[in-house]
Amino acid sequence: MKELELVHVCALEEVPAGEGRAFDVEGYEIAIINTGIEVYAVENRCPHQGSPLDEAEIVGESLVCPEHGWVIDLTTGDVVDHEGYSVATFPVILEDDQVYIQLG
Ligand code: FES
Repeated sequence: MKELELVHVCALEEVPAGEGRAFDVEGYEIAIINTGIEVYAVENRCPHQGSPLDEAEIVGESLVCPEHGWVIDLTTGDVVDHEGYSVATFPVILEDDQVYIQLG
């Protein structure tokens, strides 16, 4: 089985609570989303028409795409109001106020 790769993304303080930020991580554009309760990492591309998700509104543990309002569950990556669509999610590890994700 292939080992998951742990990759440093940023310092936690770079992503204030209630906001998202985009980072280039080994060629992938990743949105780090800090809900204020949890930190999530998702592909920074809405599955509808590709709008950047670091600019999405955070509502609870969901994102609301700024373009047409699709709602994405951060815990699963699923678009909750359009069945069958989803965005890639990456496990987040916080250590010493640094954000790491697992790429696999
Ligand atoms: S691009 Fe996100 S809802 Fe249309």
